[in-house]
Amino acid sequence: MNITVTDLTFTYPSGVTALEGVTLTIGSGEAVAIVGENGAGKTTLVKHFNGLLKPTGGTVSVGEWDTRNYTVAKLASRVGYVFQNPDDQLFERTVMKEACFGPKNLGRTADEAEAAGREALDAVGLLGEADKHPYDLHLSQRKLLALAAVLAMRTPVVVLDEPTTGQDGRGIAAIAAIAARLKGERRTVVTITHDIDFAAENFDRVIVMAKGRVIADGRTREVLAQTDVLRAAEVEPPQVARLALAVGMSATPLTPEEFVEELVARE
Ligand SMILES: Nc1ncnc2c1ncn2[C@@H]1O[C@H](COP(=O)(O)OP(=O)(O)OP(=O)(O)O)[C@@H](O)[C@H]1O
Ligand SMILES: [Mg+2]
Repeated sequence: MNITVTDLTFTYPSGVTALEGVTLTIGSGEAVAIVGENGAGKTTLVKHFNGLLKPTGGTVSVGEWDTRNYTVAKLASRVGYVFQNPDDQLFERTVMKEACFGPKNLGRTADEAEAAGREALDAVGLLGEADKHPYDLHLSQRKLLALAAVLAMRTPVVVLDEPTTGQDGRGIAAIAAIAARLKGERRTVVTITHDIDFAAENFDRVIVMAKGRVIADGRTREVLAQTDVLRAAEVEPPQVARLALAVGMSATPLTPEEFVEELVARE
């Protein structure tokens, strides 16, 4: 399902203009990372995808739905949004109830909702915590629970706002596997991230934002090779790319595997 953003402008009631003329299309099955400095407008942009915010100017469509004409509840059947802070999202008394809430709310039967909730908890490694109170989990686990709650809704579009913050290697690997699976199912995955290594290793397309605008948008390899753009957005190139530069490699590897391949090819 496509997301089409046309000349989107957004000004908060406080008077802060967070988006100034953003235009982009994200297609079915695309895995897109949005990067950029703090306050660039990344969260403001994706909150337009599920209708939490409505454009001040321009339009946002999800499939053929113009978000101005649909409620957040209606858009929830198409776009799942995992909040940057899980505590803005979680409110049930058990981990299991939290994972089943979304599908129930979309009108699935109790059995279907439970099956979807279980599968989602399993995918993030939290099935063993099903009976706990969400607030008895660590913050990193609450973030994974917020992700599971959205996965359980099986929406065609999944938006993750800084999913890897505070995660250890295992958590990051679980999130990467989920992104790969969604992509394999031709669902759309959009991730906001400060973790440029995570973006380089798992996403085909990168959108760079600065000061409410898109300043670069394209294939990950091409975008991450534009050092001037990255500098303007205060984004560091991936670690392996910096290492490659330091040892005088001409190629820009995106993953440790590519770095090793280049190294072997040089020998
Ligand atoms: N609820 C709000 N009311 C007023 N201004 C806001 C609100 N939320 C965000 N802003 C402002 O809008 C601008 C864009 O913020 P946004 O949260 O979209 O940025 P971001 O790229 O997600 O940043 P971060 O990486 O820190 O999460 C910033 O200037 C921010 O201060
Ligand atoms: Mg944000």
